[in-house]
Parts: sequence; C-alpha cells; structure tokens
Amino acid sequence: TGKIPREKGLDQTLALLREGYEFISNRCGLFQSDIFETRLMGEKVICMSGEEAARIFYNPRLFQRKGTAPKRVQKTLFGESAIQTMDGAAHEHRKQLFMSLMTPERIGMLKDLTQQYFAIAGYDWEGKKAVILFDEMQQILCKAACKWAGVPLNEAEVEKRAGDFGKMVDAFGAVGPRHWQGRRARKRTEKWIRKVIEYFRSGKIQAPEGTALHAMATYRDTEGKPLSVQMAAVELINILRPIVAIATYFTFCALALYEFPKTREQIVAGNEEDLYMFVQEVRRYYPFGPFLGARVHSGFQWNGVPFNKGQLVLLDVYGTNHDPRLWDDPFLFWPERFRNWKGGLFDLIPQGGGDFHTGHRCAGELVTIEVLKTGLSFLTKQLEYNVPDTQNVSVSLTRMPTLPESRFIIDQIKLTP
Ligand code: HEM
Repeated sequence: TGKIPREKGLDQTLALLREGYEFISNRCGLFQSDIFETRLMGEKVICMSGEEAARIFYNPRLFQRKGTAPKRVQKTLFGESAIQTMDGAAHEHRKQLFMSLMTPERIGMLKDLTQQYFAIAGYDWEGKKAVILFDEMQQILCKAACKWAGVPLNEAEVEKRAGDFGKMVDAFGAVGPRHWQGRRARKRTEKWIRKVIEYFRSGKIQAPEGTALHAMATYRDTEGKPLSVQMAAVELINILRPIVAIATYFTFCALALYEFPKTREQIVAGNEEDLYMFVQEVRRYYPFGPFLGARVHSGFQWNGVPFNKGQLVLLDVYGTNHDPRLWDDPFLFWPERFRNWKGGLFDLIPQGGGDFHTGHRCAGELVTIEVLKTGLSFLTKQLEYNVPDTQNVSVSLTRMPTLPESRFIIDQIKLTP
C-alpha cells in the first residue's frame, strides 16, 4: 500500500469547522504532502491539493458525484437530486441545458440588465447616508437575474427573494441556526419557483425561448421526459441563486479597490483587459468555495496511493488557488499576473476545473467574469464614494462562506457625469 500521511486521532469535523478555508492546506504543510488521509463526518477521507490533484479529480472515469453531496448541502445550497449530483450521459445532457443559456449574446443581455439596475441603484444611493454594498448588490443581481431568466418579480418582494437566495449560499459551511435559515429560505424559494414553472406550463405567464424559465420548463431528458415541476424549479434556482451570489465577489472587488488603491488607478486609466485581470485576481485571491467533494468510482492508484471504490475525496480549492507551485507570491494581490496568462484548466479553480460540458465545472463562470467586469467598471468609472473607516472590513478564514465583516459600507455617494 502507498505512502499517504494519515492524520492521527479522532474525527476532524470540528477542526474543519474551526480552521475553515485553511483546513486542507494547514495539513498539507504539516505532512509536507499535497495528499493525506483524515476522518471527517465519520468516514475516512482523502484530501488533496494542487494542479495534478485537480486533473485526476476532474477525470469522470475515476470519480463520481452520486452519493457525495450530504443531504444538509442538498437541502440548502444545491437542491435535492440536482445537476451537481449527476454523472455520465444524464449529467452531460443536463449540463447542455445549462450551457445553452450561456451564449455570448445571452451573457451580453445579463450584463446590460445589470448595468441598468446599477444605474437606478446609484441614483437611489445618492440620496442615502450610507449603504451596505453586499446587500445592495444582492438585490441588483436578483432583479437582473429574474428579468434575464423570464421570472416575474415584484419590486416589493425583491428584498425577501434576494435575501433567501443569499441565505441558501450562506448555509453551506454552517451548523445550527445559519443552516436552518438556509433550509427555510430554500423551502420558500422552491414554493415560489414551482408556481412560476406551473404558470409557464399552463400559459398563464410567458417567457421567450432562450430564457432560463423557458429552458427548464420545456427541457426533455435523455428519455424524452420533461422535468417534474419540483426538479425544474430546483434547476431554475440553480441559475438564479448563483447569479445573486456574484454579490460576494463584487464585494471583494470593492474591498480590493480599497485595500490596494494602486490597482484602482490602473483600472481607471486602463481598458477591458485591466478589468479582466482584476476580476481574475479577485476570484483567485479571495476565499469563496473552500473545497469540492467526489467519490472514487472504481478503485485505482495514483502516485502509489490506493484510492478505494466509494471513498470520499476532497479537492482543496482555496489552497490550489494559493499554491506557490502555480502562483508567484500567491498571497500578493497582483492582477498583472493574468496578463498573457496561459489559462490552464486545472490551476485557477475558484469555480471548479476541467471541461464545462463533460465535467462539473461551474456553468456560470463566464457569466460571473462578465458581470463582475460590469460591476467593477461601474464602481470605478461611474461612482464616487467614501469608505468610512469606522467599519471592520476584515475577512475571516474560519467562517464559510466568508465576507468582509461589515459587508462593506460606503457613503458620500455620487454618480459621476
Ligand atoms: C457549479 C462556484 C457562479 C451555475 C459550481 C461549482 C463551483 C461553483 C465551485 C462546482 C464545480 C464542481 O462541482 O466540480 C461558483 C462561484 C460562483 C458561481 C464561486 C460565483 C458567484 C455561478 C453562476 C451560475 C452558476 C453565475 C449560473 C448562472 C452553476 C451550475 C453548476 C455550478 C449550474 C453545476 C455544474 C455541474 O454540476 O455540472 N459553481 N459558481 N454558478 N455552478 Fe457555479
């Protein structure tokens, strides 16, 4: 049997909750190894980090998602039996449904909508003493996402719906009240979106072809069967919720502009490529998804280490994005590193790695990059604001998911002509 460092002692689930984003990289450092075995949630788990680890993790012949996502994650973040839990031909077919919504034209429409809601919000903020940027951004993105997807949304329910999308995401690394808030938020949201699917199917509401509502409600699976109302709702939420979650990265963009003012100057003076490099660096540098899980499909060996059928394996997302073998000075915020970046499929993995179509890589990665460029451009070129230093903008690495403590407050807001 191969040489894999084994963590001694009892189950490490509490250590994981205590150490958060650094749980895997802490142990890789301790064991001087990019792979080790530990016990989590009552079972033996292999944890691994880095580009080569990502490459095997995304080999669909070696790993499967079936039986991986714990129920507590399915009942909050993903939805039960959704695309994240599928494998093989059924997954590829379902993934095609998601990817069909991500054409350059459709992405452009979402950018335009986001820009319009920004402009309205900016006008509104001028009259306010101060705003919490993260909360505002969730609402802007909720409006843009629903409009883009063909989902009707009254102005009066924006705050509640945006809050519920946020709570589903906020629950992923939580135990206790934050977890239960996420479950209740999912229940409310599924009830709402089931009704939207039913209304669309009965002709009470319309949505044009190419919208997510139309796509989810009319999709036929590999056997030619439509999705159940519940499943269509879950997958439509798998479009809406993560668009709202872009608010997290947007808030980190605002934080980076504040923490590294030189980079703001470069953007103001720069072009489209400067926006792109900054957004890439935000997605690499700041923590969002800590790790990903999959189960060994059938036993194999890797570098002499046996992977046994059914074993749970975690890929270190945060650690790989800060791996010194891949990134010079990984803890330096330095957008320039992305100028002439060769762009590997397994090195920058904040939204997963590998191929969009055959693997589980995030369907919304390009959308995320483009929406963030729009947001960053708005912040730097269309808005003037002050960041009051009475707030705590520190980012905890032990809370998952994390954010600046104050959710980033700005004041003295003015739209620039
Ligand atoms: C999957 C991150 C935004 C739709 C994923 C995965 C990650 C991720 C880590 C899992 C990869 C894997 O399982 O191997 C993020 C982050 C986002 C974001 C950090 C920033 C807000 C979006 C957006 C959309 C989206 C905007 C849709 C418009 C999806 C879907 C999947 C997915 C449908 C499942 C793909 C599959 O299982 O094949 N995302 N995502 N995400 N994401 Fe995102």
